Amino acid sequence: MKRILSGMQPTSQLHLGNYLGALKNWVAFQDDPNAQCLYCVVDLHAITASYEAANLANATREIAAAYIAAGIDPDKSSIFVQSSIPEHSQLMWLLATMAQMGKLERMTQFKDKAGKNAERAGLGLFAYPVLMAADILIYKATHVPVGEDQKQHLELARDLASTFNTRYGVDFFPQPEPVIAGVAPRVMSLRDGTQKMSKSADSDMTRINLTDTPDMIAKKIKKAKTDAEPLPENLAGLDGRPEALNLITLYAALADKSKEEVLLHFAGKQFGQFKPEFIDLAVEKLSPITTRMNEFMDDPAQIDSILSDGSEKARSIASEVLAKTQEIMGFYS
Ligand code: TYM
Repeated sequence: MKRILSGMQPTSQLHLGNYLGALKNWVAFQDDPNAQCLYCVVDLHAITASYEAANLANATREIAAAYIAAGIDPDKSSIFVQSSIPEHSQLMWLLATMAQMGKLERMTQFKDKAGKNAERAGLGLFAYPVLMAADILIYKATHVPVGEDQKQHLELARDLASTFNTRYGVDFFPQPEPVIAGVAPRVMSLRDGTQKMSKSADSDMTRINLTDTPDMIAKKIKKAKTDAEPLPENLAGLDGRPEALNLITLYAALADKSKEEVLLHFAGKQFGQFKPEFIDLAVEKLSPITTRMNEFMDDPAQIDSILSDGSEKARSIASEVLAKTQEIMGFYS
């Protein structure tokens, strides 16, 4: 039996990178009869950066709405909020005693987010990957579908699982497998093909959000950076052309095709011919998700009820795993 766990932060709108790099792949797991899927909104991670307290609960609902709108079916998967399961934070502390500072210091996401001001970064930002390991291990998850940028964090989770097992002489936590799948595990900015598409980039023109209207999608694609060359007939012809590669990758991922197939279709054409087709495809694939998301957001009570059901199922696993972990560690009970 596989157990699948993943999550997204309610920091701001989800974008095409979140959707193609992760969420779209989560949906596929639901039809595996041997897989149990758990998808959470990681609000405790979101507060490691500055955030609006007045907006957090709504942003959390919005991510849940995006999950459902993108095809996560609450009858097949448990959808829940990280902070509603206190066992995540409890296991985090236990794992924190085994996490090495040196390894945490090497985490590229910490270095990027802390920037030059690492001395003033919060302990929560530093310990972020330990909480992520707890999110995974508290369910003894076997598979974790994420975008490529989470690979290093997953390595830490694997490391902590084996450190625990070795230290206590048990075979308790499985090694969680990162599942970095699909055509677009690393979606790049629309304005700079060497930078990751990200929620934190200053300009909204760098990303397509799941809440964008068709007009906004069209405007962003029209303004997306390209080069002057026509599209090549094979992948080798995209070498050194990061923006062209990114747009072809996005097209392929949205069309459920390979990049090679997309290139065969566009070989020799200019971006002026590619972009209108890309706009039509993006609007066709994304606007039903946006519409469903908006419908769910108009009915927060329904989202709350889905989250409450999901939380009940998740908690029954988490409380058992925590109790067993504490027993292995020798705690008084
Ligand atoms: P977050 O909220 O930054 O991103 C959510 C998911 O989207 C993927 N992603 C991308 N994929 C491709 N291209 C991009 N440009 C891009 N940007 C984001 C991320 O890889 C991720 O899969 N630490 C995690 C959240 C987390 C988590 C967990 C994930 C907390 N606990 C446990 C899995 C399991 C994060 O910050 O994701």
